[in-house]
Order: sequence, then C-alpha cells, then structure tokens
Amino acid sequence: MLTAPPSLKVRAFAKINLTLDVFSRRADGYHGLASVMQAISLHDTLTLTRREEPGIGFTCAALDGSDVPADETNLAYRAALSAFQAASEAGVGIDSGVTIHLEKRIPSQAGLGGGSSDAAAALLSVNSLFGLKLSVETLHRCAAALGSDVPFFLTGGTATARGRGENLTALPDMPPCWLVVVKPEESVSTGWAYTQLDAVVDRASHRATKRMEEALRTQDNERMLAFASNDFELPVFMHFPRLAWLHDELRMAGALTAHLCGSGSALYGTAPDEAAARRIAAHFTGRYPHVATARTLSRAESDPLGGNELS
Ligand code: C5P
Repeated sequence: MLTAPPSLKVRAFAKINLTLDVFSRRADGYHGLASVMQAISLHDTLTLTRREEPGIGFTCAALDGSDVPADETNLAYRAALSAFQAASEAGVGIDSGVTIHLEKRIPSQAGLGGGSSDAAAALLSVNSLFGLKLSVETLHRCAAALGSDVPFFLTGGTATARGRGENLTALPDMPPCWLVVVKPEESVSTGWAYTQLDAVVDRASHRATKRMEEALRTQDNERMLAFASNDFELPVFMHFPRLAWLHDELRMAGALTAHLCGSGSALYGTAPDEAAARRIAAHFTGRYPHVATARTLSRAESDPLGGNELS
C-alpha cells in the first residue's frame, strides 16, 4: 500500500512592535533595544514534506506576485539547513531530505517580520518532522544566528525583546485587538533605518517598553493603546512623508491609534472591533499594494506547530 510521505503544513505569523525603544549602536554594529513584540494573525504558510533524496528542495509563491527569493538565500531555507546542521553536530544522522513550499502573504521589507517568522517556522517544523529533538537552547541559538527577530517567533504571543532582539521575556497575552495593516509602495531596509536613527538625538523617552509591560500585566487596555510608540517613526516619516500621511489617514479613517510596524514601511491601525477594522481597510483597498485586517494572537494561537498534525 502506498502511503503519503509525512508532511507538515504550518503557519508563520507576522508581528507588530507595540513599543520599539532603540538605544545606541554597540561595538558589534547592532543596536541595543527594548521592544514589546506582538504576534498577529496575518501569516505565511509553509508546507514541508519528507523526501528520500537528501538535501532541501525549496519553492516559493508570493500571493501578490512580488519577487521573493526561492533559493538558498531565503531565510526559511537557511533555517532548515541550520536545523539539519545542529542535528548533525549533536550526532543525529539524517539520510533523507525535505521539500519546502512557502506561500507568502506577509509583505517583505514591511517591518512585519515575515522572513524571520518563516525561518522560525522552518526550524520548528524540521525539528518536528525529523524527530530531531533539538533542545530549546539549540533552537534559540540557531534562531538568533539567522536574525535578531527570529527567536521571538519560536514562541510568539506577547513578549519583551531586549539585547539586539534575542533576549525574550514572555508577557501576559494582550487582550484580542483588531488591526488594519497597510503597506505602501515604499520599502524600508532595516539596516538603513537603524543608520538613520543614529542621527536622531531626541528619541522617544525610552520608557515606553516599561510602561507597556506594566499595562499588559494589569491588562489596562486604555494604557496599552496610549503607551504604544516606535522610535523609528521620526526618521522614517522624515524620509518618507507619504508614510506620515498614511499614519494620519489611518486615524482619519477611524483607527484608534496608528503606528509604524518595526522599521517600516507598513503601518498598523487599531480598531474597536472586526467590523470597524473592515470599514477602515476599505478606505485603503485598491490604493495601496497591501491592505489586510488582522487580530492580535495569544501565545497558544501563534504557535506555528499548534493545531498542525503530521499527515
Ligand atoms: O538581525 P537582522 O539580520 O535582522 O538585522 C538586520 C540589520 O538591522 C543588521 O545588519 C543591523 O544593521 C540592523 N540591526 C541593528 N540592531 C538590531 C537589529 C538589527 O542595528 N538590534
């Protein structure tokens, strides 16, 4: 009897930064930061299938037709490779391979962490599909080597990131909140945005993250909205005035608050409920390349392997 090869279909969720306090550039070139990160329901999908031929086969389809590298430079490919390497260092022999198909919905260069989330999902999936039993520490080390945001996506939910983004402290789940995410034509490179920040002396108070943590611990919704901030807004809005305009437009369309996602270029607006989020999104649909409604997720909901069974 023919049996289908074991495969796994997982979701890789995007994130927003409820706060993003950036400190000075460190000796290693990275910036110290403090950020409350929040997983959201906008997601890519990865399908991983074991195959007899060793190695990694990788294909990618962007639902908006945009160009996403479908080769060994893709972070999801590199993550799968790093899981195999970690297993081999731990003495686990693998004589088969994997094909990965990535379906992109999260826009790139948007500050939504799409590539980082794909990488974390690939790491966790390869670990599960091949029964590698990599430790939490090993997965975290592999994730941090792939990118500063990757460790967050191993667990998702709501968490504070410190260091260059890899030191995480879990926070209580944020009460569900509806969002509108809009990505304009402009794209922002993360490295460029950090360089721009170096020139900004007068940054936000740097206390936003501490205040946000307190608001989450006391589940104070009003303060959660009030304390949201992002140090990148000043330099990015200065360079891309259309993003400053989009921010105001989101507010005029009914968003309770609006902020840049990571270092941009997407912005998110918060909405009182799903119907309001859809109404706000309708103002932007057709005028901007990416418009989506999304919802903040709990830790359990944002687990890439949650609810996904081996087939
Ligand atoms: O770690 P990742 O590859 O995502 O970072 C991309 C770029 O963003 C880095 O090369 C660096 O220029 C900048 N960065 C930084 N400080 C951080 C994270 C990223 O300066 N904490």
